[in-house]
Amino acid sequence: MPLVTTKEMFKKAYEGNYAVGAFNVNNMEIIQGIVDAAKEERSPLILQVSAGARKYAKHVYLMKLVEAAVEDSGLPIALHLDHGDDFEICKSCIDGGFTSVMIDGSKHSFEDNIALTKRVVEYAHERGVVVEAELGKLAGVEDDVQVDAKDAIYTNPDQAVEFVERTGVDSLAIAIGTSHGAYKFKGEPKLDFERLEKISSLLPNFPLVLHGASTVLPEFVELCNKYGGNVAGAQGVPENLLRQAAQLGVCKINIDTDLRLAMTASIRKHLAENPGDFDPRQYLKPAREALQAMVAHKMKNVLGSSNKL
Ligand code: G3H
Ligand code: 13P
Ligand code: ZN
Repeated sequence: MPLVTTKEMFKKAYEGNYAVGAFNVNNMEIIQGIVDAAKEERSPLILQVSAGARKYAKHVYLMKLVEAAVEDSGLPIALHLDHGDDFEICKSCIDGGFTSVMIDGSKHSFEDNIALTKRVVEYAHERGVVVEAELGKLAGVEDDVQVDAKDAIYTNPDQAVEFVERTGVDSLAIAIGTSHGAYKFKGEPKLDFERLEKISSLLPNFPLVLHGASTVLPEFVELCNKYGGNVAGAQGVPENLLRQAAQLGVCKINIDTDLRLAMTASIRKHLAENPGDFDPRQYLKPAREALQAMVAHKMKNVLGSSNKL
């Protein structure tokens, strides 16, 4: 089974009112934990690689590890570039075997974002690769978005329609109140579902993408804090809000922070309890298992993607 694009995955997810998890990968243990969870759950799967991951592990290593995962699991997996910020990195990933790329032109003006996205779409589509773009900005907790500032930051529904029509992009990341990392909300977590409903009603049958969608599971925060870490005050997107988004046209939910927390919590605990251990396999094995269990839980109880192969 070769790597697949997200086209079929998204069509089925859209029709079935569930979302496919897109998990960030940086090394072998992360890939194995995620892929074993998908196999256990018989779930569709997107593995995504950021510019930082490519820099850390090198494109060729990640490519070969993902190819090994496909061969070992027999699963249809899509390999996606996360937050490509210029044409060159998208081209490099397309030429290097990825089946999906994100061109993130959200920091540019509307017109410049369209021009950049269009250029990537043309190059990608000629080569059978699909493209995700982003419109609107993912505000950080420090931005403390006030009601009157929402329109300037969150995705404008009418612009989303124009953007999709003019670029021919395959999916669109939207801003409705999520943000990257472990500190997403100061007070009560809230997403702009009214806006999401508007966007998805104006773009029927079109897959939307939610970035910054980690839940920051309390069990991992507690373990980190208990065993020498400090992620006090961390807060993510509650699982019920993610389930709600998956009913409203969101077909891809991006998760990285939850993987980092699960892995780090396990390693901190293991090393604190076994101070004499210095064989990386002794702490990476339970870390990989913790990550696998967390991903399986997401597929089954949050994304709704279990048994959808
Ligand atoms: O959205 C960002 C992802 O969590 C990737 O993070 O750039 O540190 O690899 P990174
Ligand atoms: P989190 O930081 O919430 O995991 O978001 C990851 C993401 O959006 C990757 O593109
Ligand atoms: Zn993101």
